[in-house]
Amino acid sequence: MTETERKRLHVITWGCQMNVYDSGRMADVLAPLGYGPAAEPDDADMVILNTCHIRDKAAEKVFSELGRLRKLKEARGGRMILAVAGCVAQAEGAEILVRAPYVDIVLGPQTYHRLPEMVARAARAGGAVIETDFPPEDKFDHLPESATPQGVTAFLTIQEGCDKFCSFCVVPYTRGAEQSRSAATILREARHLVSQGTREITLLGQNVNAWHGEGGHGEGWGLGRLLREMAEIPDLLRIRYATSHPRDMDDDLIAAHRDIPALMPFLHLPVQSGSDRVLSAMNRKHTADDFRRIVDKLRTARADLALSSDFIVGHPGETEADFEDTMRLVRDTGFALAYSFKYSQRPGTPAAGAPGQVTEADKDRRLQELQALLREQQAAFNAGCVGLELPVLFTGTGRHPGQIAGRSPFLQPVHLLGSASLIGTESLVRIVANHPNSLAGTLVQERRTA
Ligand code: 5AD
Ligand code: SF4
Repeated sequence: MTETERKRLHVITWGCQMNVYDSGRMADVLAPLGYGPAAEPDDADMVILNTCHIRDKAAEKVFSELGRLRKLKEARGGRMILAVAGCVAQAEGAEILVRAPYVDIVLGPQTYHRLPEMVARAARAGGAVIETDFPPEDKFDHLPESATPQGVTAFLTIQEGCDKFCSFCVVPYTRGAEQSRSAATILREARHLVSQGTREITLLGQNVNAWHGEGGHGEGWGLGRLLREMAEIPDLLRIRYATSHPRDMDDDLIAAHRDIPALMPFLHLPVQSGSDRVLSAMNRKHTADDFRRIVDKLRTARADLALSSDFIVGHPGETEADFEDTMRLVRDTGFALAYSFKYSQRPGTPAAGAPGQVTEADKDRRLQELQALLREQQAAFNAGCVGLELPVLFTGTGRHPGQIAGRSPFLQPVHLLGSASLIGTESLVRIVANHPNSLAGTLVQERRTA
């Protein structure tokens, strides 16, 4: 390829890990057209804004970023392809072009395998291209194998979309119906990642534990079985999955936590609320005690399992007593990590128009109270790790000279003084200190597992 054919792509990613994965795959799809990475949008021939619609002011954030990119595009005499991808693109569609006519491509999360064709069409037509349909073909069947190694840790999307229709959530509308990739393609992609140096894979899906597929003889597989197959891949040291729904936490999956040493003892299991009234209004189809029972079973299967969760405060109809139920569930369970949000009205979702909307002041107060408790639990969990010897998978160099950094089994960042040759391997580390956002350690022994 000549210098003039070489083009540069910059992708800005907002939102969840699925979007991080999608951004990587969009870069893969565009690589055959000559697009390599640009560190900054200023240097790019094409900029993709991969957007998130999950909470407040999503669209406003997109338009303000687009305003900034418009200036860059103008400074380059218009020679920059501007694409808006992801869930805001899906939700807003043509509205984006009305408010930002300098955008060239608007594409939803299900159509990015068609990006090369869209780029060609945008260049030919000189007008904008919109692709927000849910196409009949499966995009995963049309994606090339990733040419660029993802790194020591990698994401692998195995399931997309959601059929659960929680009252508050836009995902069923932006990502569409639940769809599982085939076991064979997932295992092929996993082996390919490992052959390129990946040592930890996080299986991704909006409802990852709703994944279902078939084995070689047509027998039905759930996520537990898929994890067992993944664990057979040589040199794959660690497996994780996110995000799960309590309703799909079946016994085989729970048993996988007992049986598979490579399955890390850390689980993100959103519960949203501890009040049965609110859980019912949210259409979660489980109670707070169902969640407690699942947690008990998981901890029986894997005693050192650390839990993470998502919470929403101020869902329509939530009273002080309901909120107290949430606080009680948090106290009863004990979380190593958690994300909590004020309920945000998403247009088109059932809760948006429901009676009993909670005032902003009440949401603020409840969020602060909940976050104080969750912070306390997280700090206690991290402090409890000091003095332990934990296996750490080293992923890169640290911020200071001579430092290397990695993750504990519980996803905590760990840094220590050590040789860069350890990157990509797992070693036992004694945790010596607990900083606000990381742990410090010293090397106990080089395990050099890979
Ligand atoms: N308002 C607030 N939080 C929300 N989430 C999803 N939709 C909303 C909403 N409308 C949160 C949930 C979910 C996480 C990804 O985002 O807690 O688990
Ligand atoms: Fe955001 Fe949900 Fe879309 Fe992910 S799937 S980008 S969290 S709206």
